[in-house]
This record gives sequence, C-alpha cells and structure tokens, in this order.
Amino acid sequence: MRILFIGDIFGRPGRNIVKDRLPSLVKAHSIDLIIANGENSAAGFGITPQLAEELFELGIDVLTSGNHIWDKREIIDFFQMADGNPNSPSRRLLRPANYAPDLPGYGVYEGRKGEIGYAVINLQGRVFMPSNDDPFRKTDQLLKDMQSKVILVDIHAEATSEKISLGWYLDGKVTAVVGTHTHVPTADERVLPNGTAYITDVGMTGPFDGVIGVKKELVVGKFLNNMPVRFEAASGDVRLCAVVIDCDEKTGRARSIERVMVGERG
Ligand SMILES: [Fe+2]
Ligand SMILES: [Fe+2]
Repeated sequence: MRILFIGDIFGRPGRNIVKDRLPSLVKAHSIDLIIANGENSAAGFGITPQLAEELFELGIDVLTSGNHIWDKREIIDFFQMADGNPNSPSRRLLRPANYAPDLPGYGVYEGRKGEIGYAVINLQGRVFMPSNDDPFRKTDQLLKDMQSKVILVDIHAEATSEKISLGWYLDGKVTAVVGTHTHVPTADERVLPNGTAYITDVGMTGPFDGVIGVKKELVVGKFLNNMPVRFEAASGDVRLCAVVIDCDEKTGRARSIERVMVGERG
C-alpha cells in the first residue's frame, strides 16, 4: 500500500495547490490512500465543515488536525454529526486522541481502502503546547484493540525531541509516525530498524513567502513590538509538502518514506 500524507494545509493557497497538484501526485506515486492535516485550512485558523467536505471531495480519505481544531466553532456541531457511519465526512476528520476524553470528535479512525484495513491516529505533543494527556501511553491504549495492520500516526507537536522519542517508542508497532505543526519540513525521513517510517515534520502546504503561513510583516512586527495583531494568511511562494510511504499491507511494515515538495517553482 502506498500512502500520501500531506502536511498542514494553510488557507486558500494551501487548498488550491492541493486541488491543482493532487491528481498528478497520486498518479506519479501510485497512491492508494491519502491523509492530510487540515487544521489551518480556514485562512490559517481551524477548519469549517464545508472546507472539510471540499477536501474530502478532492480524494482525501482522512483529515487530521491539532491545536487549531477548535478555532471555528461550527466544527463542534460537525463532530457531533458523526452518527456511527464510518464513511461520513464528520467521522473522517480527527482531533488529537489525547485530548480530554469527553470532548467532541474522535482521535482515531479505522477504515478500509478496497480490501486493505488501515488506521489513522492523531496525537498532540505536550512540550511548548497546551496541556493534554500523555500521547505515548494513549497510543499504547489505542493499539490494544486495533484490528488494522497499516497504522499511520500524526504527531502534532512543537519539540523535535518529543516527536523523535515517539518515533522510537512506536518503532515496530505502527507503519508510520509523521510529525506536523511546525510548518517547516525536516530532512530526517527514514525507516526505523523495526519497520516504522518516520519524519519529524512533513512541513506546510501553503504560502512560504511568510512566517509559517502568516504575512511576514505582521509576524516580524509582532516580534519587534509585541503589540496585539490580527494575523492574515500570506499568499506567495505556495508549496505542497508531503511524504509518500510505501508499506507491506500484510505486516504493516514500512519499506520506504520519501519527502515531496512541489510548488509554483516546480
Ligand atoms: Fe498547523
Ligand atoms: Fe498546529
């Protein structure tokens, strides 16, 4: 099975590049399953039900998220629409699994792509992030009653050390551990010794002519004077950052992980 995981989709520029480039990426890399982090889809802050549905219509199978998931209040009702139907769009949008258990939404999705069962687990780190439950032990708990062999984990976190530690901790237990949230791709993709594909951060799908997606003058100004400022999405140098993971669907072991970056410049 070949999986495409797309890093944080940021605003309209991010959504547009996914729309434009996804068909050719799927073809070029013989992709079977598409997962994307959509936490910044709505002008950089959160995701609306309509935007989630538009992204699913492009062929994305599961959307993960992170700390921005509650930015658009209507997403709470959307989560509550998931009525046990595993194919409903609202069930295929995840929030981190290690949030307080009584919150709306789900942190894990188990589905099928043709004959192949797969699972996606969304987690959030605890270093330099809002507090939430332990992502390490939460994953152990989730893996106990998991049927799927092919399991992808999105660790949405700030600290490289926390993400690398989770990669080692889950090596041999899941197919892939991919990092999101920093919006900056890292060059450390590899398959760990027991068969888990790993990358610290996939990077952002959005405008790079800014500061992690936001207009650069606003963020530079914020660093200079620390005055309150309303962040707006940047627009130039739009790129799509992703990874392609090839795995053996019978064992769930990864064979390879490849970094992908496409944009206006190629
Ligand atoms: Fe993000
Ligand atoms: Fe984030």
